[in-house]
Amino acid sequence: MNDFHTPALLKEVIRGLNIQPNGKYIDATIGGGGHAAEIIKRGGHVLGIDQDQDSIEYVKRNLESRIQNSELTLVRGNFSNIAKIARERGMKRADGVLFDLGVSSYQIERSGRGFSFLRNEPLDMRMDPTTASGQASFTAYEIVNKWSKDELCNIFSKFGEEKNARTISDSIVRARKVKPVSTSKELAEIITGANETHLRGVSRLHPATRVFQALRIVVNSEIENLKMGIEGAFEILAPGGRLAVISFHSLEDRAVKLFFARLVRDQRARLINKKPIVASEEEIKVNRRARSAKLRIIEKIANS
Ligand SMILES: C[S@@+](CC[C@H](N)C(=O)[O-])C[C@H]1O[C@@H](n2cnc3c(N)ncnc32)[C@H](O)[C@@H]1O
Repeated sequence: MNDFHTPALLKEVIRGLNIQPNGKYIDATIGGGGHAAEIIKRGGHVLGIDQDQDSIEYVKRNLESRIQNSELTLVRGNFSNIAKIARERGMKRADGVLFDLGVSSYQIERSGRGFSFLRNEPLDMRMDPTTASGQASFTAYEIVNKWSKDELCNIFSKFGEEKNARTISDSIVRARKVKPVSTSKELAEIITGANETHLRGVSRLHPATRVFQALRIVVNSEIENLKMGIEGAFEILAPGGRLAVISFHSLEDRAVKLFFARLVRDQRARLINKKPIVASEEEIKVNRRARSAKLRIIEKIANS
């Protein structure tokens, strides 16, 4: 645990990846380095990737001695290019790869980029606010203020599974005619107003949860990057190597499940766990974010 992010399903990930001393691992979403530090403690060597410079800086400070001992290499980049990033760092094969998807607690609570509907921050939501990791860059502000009502409705339904997408899009378009919607708080208030009659007393989720999720997914091309990332990870996985993915919502989990099912059908991999691994009650008590975590793991079959 550290002040940047509490890693979810830590024990389960370490066991699932079957860490070997001197094995080579990729942490494709290093965040605050919680999972990576545990892999290194067990003798693994880690290539850690993150598209957020703040994460890279944090891990550089926190795990400095591991970097000096060549147990950890850090790369700022997008995991959609994972195979290229690994080869450029001289890693031809990995014994295990971890993806711990979504945003870190730091990004939600302290980055100031508008990820949280509970804060009053500029509507940005880019995990990489530059183009340094090779991604095209547009913000949540541009979507909310410039996209058509139909486009908004479409992404809120598709990426947020928001049932009230039409009413919310209407309210946003009405509000932005008066003045641009500039902050996370302004947007949250518009959504709450639109959702009021629908959700009173029905849902325990904050009324803005689904729309904020949708915007974040679109701004960061999360589903496209995930599909490319897991394909690339499987490509560089050594025979017998394991790929572990923690997802936090159904769209991510569906993409992972389908990809794994295809590999199993083609006899290129075997499932380590038939059903996704979820957090224990004890873990959820100390880390609420873990309540929606789902861990799936496969092992590459030799000669696949
Ligand atoms: C849930 S956090 C990871 C936490 C980490 N496992 C730990 O123990 O602290 C997810 C991290 O993945 C990064 N990320 C998300 N999508 C990415 C992508 N396409 N490429 C690279 N990093 C990404 C985010 O910037 C964030 O730091």
